[in-house]
Amino acid sequence: MKVYQAASNRYETMTYNRTGKSGVLLPAISLGLWHNFGFNDSFDNARDVLRCAFDLGITHLDLANNYGPPPGSAETNFGKILQADFKSYRDELFIASKAGYLMWDGPYGEWGSRKYLIASLDQSLKRMGLDYVDVFYHHRPDPNTPLEETMGALADIVRQGKALYAGISNYNAEDTQKAASILKQLNVPFILNQVRYSMLDRWVEDDLLDTLEANGVGGIAFSPLAQGMLTDKYLNGIPKDSRAGGSSIFLNEETVNSNIEKVKQLNTIAQNRGQKLSQMAIAWILRHPQMASVLIGASSVNQLKENVKALDNLEFSTEELNQIDAILG
Ligand SMILES: NC(=O)c1ccc[n+]([C@@H]2O[C@H](COP(=O)([O-])OP(=O)(O)OC[C@H]3O[C@@H](n4cnc5c(N)ncnc54)[C@H](OP(=O)(O)O)[C@@H]3O)[C@@H](O)[C@H]2O)c1
Repeated sequence: MKVYQAASNRYETMTYNRTGKSGVLLPAISLGLWHNFGFNDSFDNARDVLRCAFDLGITHLDLANNYGPPPGSAETNFGKILQADFKSYRDELFIASKAGYLMWDGPYGEWGSRKYLIASLDQSLKRMGLDYVDVFYHHRPDPNTPLEETMGALADIVRQGKALYAGISNYNAEDTQKAASILKQLNVPFILNQVRYSMLDRWVEDDLLDTLEANGVGGIAFSPLAQGMLTDKYLNGIPKDSRAGGSSIFLNEETVNSNIEKVKQLNTIAQNRGQKLSQMAIAWILRHPQMASVLIGASSVNQLKENVKALDNLEFSTEELNQIDAILG
């Protein structure tokens, strides 16, 4: 493969949004490495997608200890690609990792203890060949560990220089408020809550967005395309080479079929806007100023290119928003 030279125009078209009240600007569209980057996936395709992302101005890459499969392999592959292609661009990248889900056997391999978080980040840094990540997240709330312990671990990780900023993921409004208060007391830069948000899952709209704003914390939306359902991919059935057509435990035929009528109606609105459904789904999330970035997945360079074109039309008329609300119910 040819030596990679980043596109010289990479900062010309991407939009960068401030994350909460922090100094950090994130690309309006970020790339996640949950699927398509593990040892079971094509390494060359993963590398092409990462190169294309950076060329399009996507500076924020999202990983976690357990991404693969097998768990850890997305970080290992990313480390190899980073070393080969992006070493000289490290300071242009904003790299995330997380810990919270099951990573290793025994009582210290998941959830929110200080023991788990600190050991896990050390493992992640080794796999990626990094001295530090830009943001380190607690991946999911832990009902059995005091929040003070989990947030205290994030604070020490930041003080040790292993992460520049702290984040949380999948925290509801109440827990976000508690986390923000603790981290404020500890004087830790807390910049992001990473949450599932799409046209097919609107829970954040109830009170989380207000809580984020009140605390000067940004939001970043994961699975904005509902894992591919909010694209034109499933309009005529389930392709074999899709997430739902494969062996994913996260998206299956039944879920696709139960949403397809809504998806078809949404697709018509997108067409009337002169956009692909994927593009409209991304733009729709970015209408909230609290949402600093939309965190997409992509199994190919073409998907990535299509999705980034969402930025060409971010405006919605009231009528369009009302039509979308009526479809979503
Ligand atoms: N914090 C958390 O708990 C959490 C949880 C989940 C995800 N995340 C993060 O969020 C990232 C994105 O999640 P996601 O992968 O579920 O996001 P998504 O953007 O909703 O779905 C991505 C998938 O949709 C399909 N797709 C994307 N663009 C398409 C297009 N233009 N046309 C047709 N199909 C298209 C592809 O699947 P196929 O081509 O394979 O069908 C792609 O892998 C993850 O990588 C991860 O970083 C975080």
